[in-house]
Amino acid sequence: MTEQALQKQLTSRSIRSFVIRKGRLTKAQAAAMDNLLPKYGIQYQEDQLLDLPTDKPTWLEIGFGNGDALIDMATRYPDNDFIGIEVHEPGVGQALMGIDASGLTNVNIIQHDAMEVLQHMVPEASLQRVLLFFPDPWRKKRHFKRRIVQTEFIELVADKLEPDGVLHCATDWQDYAEWMLEKINVCERLKNQSDTDEDSPRPEWRTKTRFEQRGERLGHNVADLLYTRI
Ligand SMILES: C[S@@+](CC[C@H](N)C(=O)[O-])C[C@H]1O[C@@H](n2cnc3c(N)ncnc32)[C@H](O)[C@@H]1O
Repeated sequence: MTEQALQKQLTSRSIRSFVIRKGRLTKAQAAAMDNLLPKYGIQYQEDQLLDLPTDKPTWLEIGFGNGDALIDMATRYPDNDFIGIEVHEPGVGQALMGIDASGLTNVNIIQHDAMEVLQHMVPEASLQRVLLFFPDPWRKKRHFKRRIVQTEFIELVADKLEPDGVLHCATDWQDYAEWMLEKINVCERLKNQSDTDEDSPRPEWRTKTRFEQRGERLGHNVADLLYTRI
């Protein structure tokens, strides 16, 4: 689907956490969209529940960018099943190239709004992990409503996590970390893994993504927030 077609389809979305940017595809990314999306992609379909494997854990990454973390996690954990959701077409194309080059068979991609995918395609209590790495911080006050971490999102994630499943967010924006803590700490179905209800140590396996590296160049600290579904 083109980004323009996606934009049209999304006129009624609840949290507008992204704007469709007119990103230019490289030739290789365009070829990946033509040749690899049919292989690794799952078409968004309203109220068509995903047929997730019952014999292995499913990890779902929201807003995977170029797929750095997704590809790394799928390589490290070959016995897990991975679903990546991203709207930005050049990122999807880039990730498809990386998935194919790594010979991964445990990753699928959905190019669509994560809120709608969660609402309409993900079965209840089906995910072992939901990963949200370096979501757009929407730093201006008038844009705070665009931050994906809102009560509606948090409750949806809690619906979709299996018991003991984990929501893992990471951000390099201090005020977004505080915002997330304030909003997620009050969810009765998600327990902060930090005894002090703050951020947790960074898990050693979490790959440094492009946005994380940019944050580090700007001198930002990174906060990992981990919550267990109770
Ligand atoms: C700041 S980038 C971070 C990308 C990557 N996680 C990283 O760390 O490099 C945030 C990404 O989330 C995507 N995004 C934002 N809202 C989304 C949504 N509702 N559904 C799917 N992707 C979304 C954006 O397109 C963007 O690529």
